[in-house]
Amino acid sequence: MTGPESEGSQVRRAVCPGSFDPITNGHLDIIARASRLYDEVYVAVMINKSKKGLFEIEERIELIREVTAEYDNVRVEAFHGLLVDFCKQREIPAIVKGLRAVSDFDYELQMAQMNIGLTGVETLFVPTNPTYSFLSSSLVKEVAAWGGDVSHLVPAPVLEALNKRLHKD
Ligand code: PNS
Repeated sequence: MTGPESEGSQVRRAVCPGSFDPITNGHLDIIARASRLYDEVYVAVMINKSKKGLFEIEERIELIREVTAEYDNVRVEAFHGLLVDFCKQREIPAIVKGLRAVSDFDYELQMAQMNIGLTGVETLFVPTNPTYSFLSSSLVKEVAAWGGDVSHLVPAPVLEALNKRLHKD
């Protein structure tokens, strides 16, 4: 087949999904690696209405856009619904997830098996850089809230946003 249709179908797309409340250096490492492996990488900020975050969805998106600006093939979007539907609507055949430790594996495997069962979307696990194997957004928020130094764990714009949000006075 020739023409735009066949060219379109050859674009290799993947999604890096998460809450990103806020994005950390661990997330950024996975996104950067995915951007080298795929033609287009979507960062999907999944909206969970039952979980109030520290940052609004728009703020999370803005921060992710800022810190991924150097990767031309990365797009950032919010989505309310099932990840498999996000993938179906954008013809994304693969989900890329970082695995920090064995403790991540049980739940990640469950989700991967559920997702492939729902629509056939594959999940690829990438081993997290050992420097960030202990890192999570929740821990960053907790440490930052008590005045601990997280400057080596988050990109500079995120550090600034955390300080503004947590230490207003
Ligand atoms: O950063 P998180 O909170 O660990 O990411 C989890 C996330 C958002 C990727 C996961 O909860 C998810 O995919 N949510 C979207 C809703 C959905 O598809 N649920 C069924 C999962 S099998």
